[in-house]
Amino acid sequence: MNVLVTGGAGYIGSHAALRLLEDGHAVTVIDDLSRGNQGAMDALEGIGSDFAFVAGDIGDRPRVESLLRERSIEVVMHFAALTYVGESTQQPLRYYRNNTASALALIEAMEAVGVRRMVFSSSAATYGEPPPELIPIREDCPQRPINPYGQSKLHVEQILADYARAKRDAGQDFAFASLRYFNVAGNDGKLRLGEDHDPETHLIPICLAVALGQRKAITIFGTDYPTPDGTCIRDYVHVEDLIDAHVSVMHALRPGDARAYNIGIGKGYSVREVIDACRRVTDIKFTEVEGKRREGDPPSLFADPSKIRKDLRWRASHTSLEKIIESAWQWRQQHPRGYGR
Ligand code: UFG
Repeated sequence: MNVLVTGGAGYIGSHAALRLLEDGHAVTVIDDLSRGNQGAMDALEGIGSDFAFVAGDIGDRPRVESLLRERSIEVVMHFAALTYVGESTQQPLRYYRNNTASALALIEAMEAVGVRRMVFSSSAATYGEPPPELIPIREDCPQRPINPYGQSKLHVEQILADYARAKRDAGQDFAFASLRYFNVAGNDGKLRLGEDHDPETHLIPICLAVALGQRKAITIFGTDYPTPDGTCIRDYVHVEDLIDAHVSVMHALRPGDARAYNIGIGKGYSVREVIDACRRVTDIKFTEVEGKRREGDPPSLFADPSKIRKDLRWRASHTSLEKIIESAWQWRQQHPRGYGR
């Protein structure tokens, strides 16, 4: 298939592009490189038989329309987005512009050109702070985001749902799936790609940077949450499993589909458990500091992934937190400065 991967120079998007190329698809990446890595694009050169990278903005509708036509795109995997919960609380307009308005422009471009499939990178952040009786989280859990990041993603889910309904009512073909990710970690098993954000805010990469001596300590954001050890609980899914879910969904989409799936392993780990696992994997007893809560962080988020298991027989193949961290650690050791910025 001819697939457009938006945000394909980012951590998750680049892993999607790699997998699609290896599966023999023609892959076009569009990424404005504001947060993505040119190094990831360089790593994809020579993989597969048809790869194109365009440095550009998905909100630039005429440009995206030309690209959809030129590359005869059949399906869009939409990853391009800003992804920091904390930043979104400080710069909400930037998040709505970048994540919601640009996605709308992309969907309009797809409509103009007649591209009828989208796999959308949504987030567990759309669920907000579910009550304890609704955790593990199923897809029918009410979506009530508590930060602009989650809200910006939920708006896109709603736009897609309304659009798909209108197309179905008009007897026209459109299909999409929203994949609500929990926390993504690890990297390509052959270490061609890795996780390299600037700024880096994620727990596992920061722990690894502390282990490498690049930062002094890991600060635990809040130790007074209503969880067994007082720190936040999250569900860490390996990026290769996450991409496997995208590919399965892409192949399963049928006219009229409006699907939503949670992608996680179905088990939560506290911040303290993740830090301890990072210490075991790296064999370095790095320092932790107890800090105050980060705004916008819900206490506990982990998935009930049974819907995608039932529909598509997808399940996470990497279920050991230590193994997931191990793959990230291997890449980090080879690339202590990430892609070399
Ligand atoms: N944390 C710390 N110290 C740090 C960094 C993180 O204690 O230096 C904590 C956070 O407070 C949180 C947990 O570690 O409790 C995980 O934080 P991350 O920043 O690694 O990830 P988030 O849970 O904030 O966000 C991730 C994705 C979002 C997605 C969300 C859904 O980045 O896009 O998971 O669960 F919405």
